[in-house]
Amino acid sequence: MHIRHRPSWELPESAATPESVYLSRRTLLGGGAGLIGALGLPGGAQAGFLDSLGLSGGDKAPKGPAPGDPANDPTKDLYPARHNDAFTLDRPVTPEDISANYNNFYEFGSDRSYYQVADVCAQMPRRPWTVKIDGLVEKEREVGIDDLIRAMALEERLYRHRCVEAWSMAVPWTGFPVKDFVSWARPLSSAKYMRMETFLNPDVAAGQRRFTYPWPYVDGLTMAEATNDLAFFVTGIYGKPAPNQFGAPLRLAVPWKYGFKSVKSIVRISFVEERPVGLWEQIQGREYGFWANVNPAVPHPRWSQASERDIGTGERRPTEIYNGYGEQVAGLYAGIKGENLFM
Ligand code: MTE
Repeated sequence: MHIRHRPSWELPESAATPESVYLSRRTLLGGGAGLIGALGLPGGAQAGFLDSLGLSGGDKAPKGPAPGDPANDPTKDLYPARHNDAFTLDRPVTPEDISANYNNFYEFGSDRSYYQVADVCAQMPRRPWTVKIDGLVEKEREVGIDDLIRAMALEERLYRHRCVEAWSMAVPWTGFPVKDFVSWARPLSSAKYMRMETFLNPDVAAGQRRFTYPWPYVDGLTMAEATNDLAFFVTGIYGKPAPNQFGAPLRLAVPWKYGFKSVKSIVRISFVEERPVGLWEQIQGREYGFWANVNPAVPHPRWSQASERDIGTGERRPTEIYNGYGEQVAGLYAGIKGENLFM
């Protein structure tokens, strides 16, 4: 009888996370967490050991009222926003109780089941919240999130959302086109990229106490990508201000790219000449690149991207090039040479 031994790299989908990649590949380089990964301790044992070092990703929700309760959001009068019919779906909207309990947010990540972060995220205060706009702009400034949101016209769009880990959902985001923000921010013509940065606050985000990650979370887009009609800054979901686990009070949604490009809880937007290096690219550039366009024909080095699991229906469905948004975005990449477009 042929017995097939599973190679160590052939992980089940649930274990095929960027973190597991990192822990197994960086081994002794990264201090305690890397060492534990190298020893191959199971998740629970890792968590206990990391807790004892004060390094755990923080999956224990602190007690008390949640300062991040979206019901108290100062912009809640703006919801529900006008629904934009131009964005339709080929699949059912993922029920809120499923999408709101399946979130990737490493700042609040847990060693045991890191997708269940809603409770710990709720402890993050949403106000005061400012966004710094700097770099190659006519005038650098820092704007209060409420002033920014009220300066934009909010709308609702139905978007597909595909994670590099081969799961997907479909959600009704509320927000405003990134191109509207760009006109408002007035970058100089020398700006080639828009770089976005998440908050840095290890007091509320225990995952940021892990010195093995190059916090804060950063990623970026070319100016042509940022000003494409589809690029969207999200402030709400399901007709309400977004709960923290979705990246409140401001996150990106670029549905033709893998989810890791969609930076959450943004505090700084910089217009720059040099291509930003995202957090995942810094950690593992062979597996996570700048372009990150969804492409079923290009497997991740350790798993296939040919299909995805819809977390709403549980069904597996074929993945489409550019996540089905090729008509809107393929032109952005025509003529680009010498680049690995789909990493
Ligand atoms: N942004 C920050 N700051 N931290 C993160 O861990 N995870 C990314 C992206 N943005 C992440 C982030 C990844 S890998 C995905 S798939 C999406 O957020 C998940 O968004 P969701 O939880 O709203 O589905």
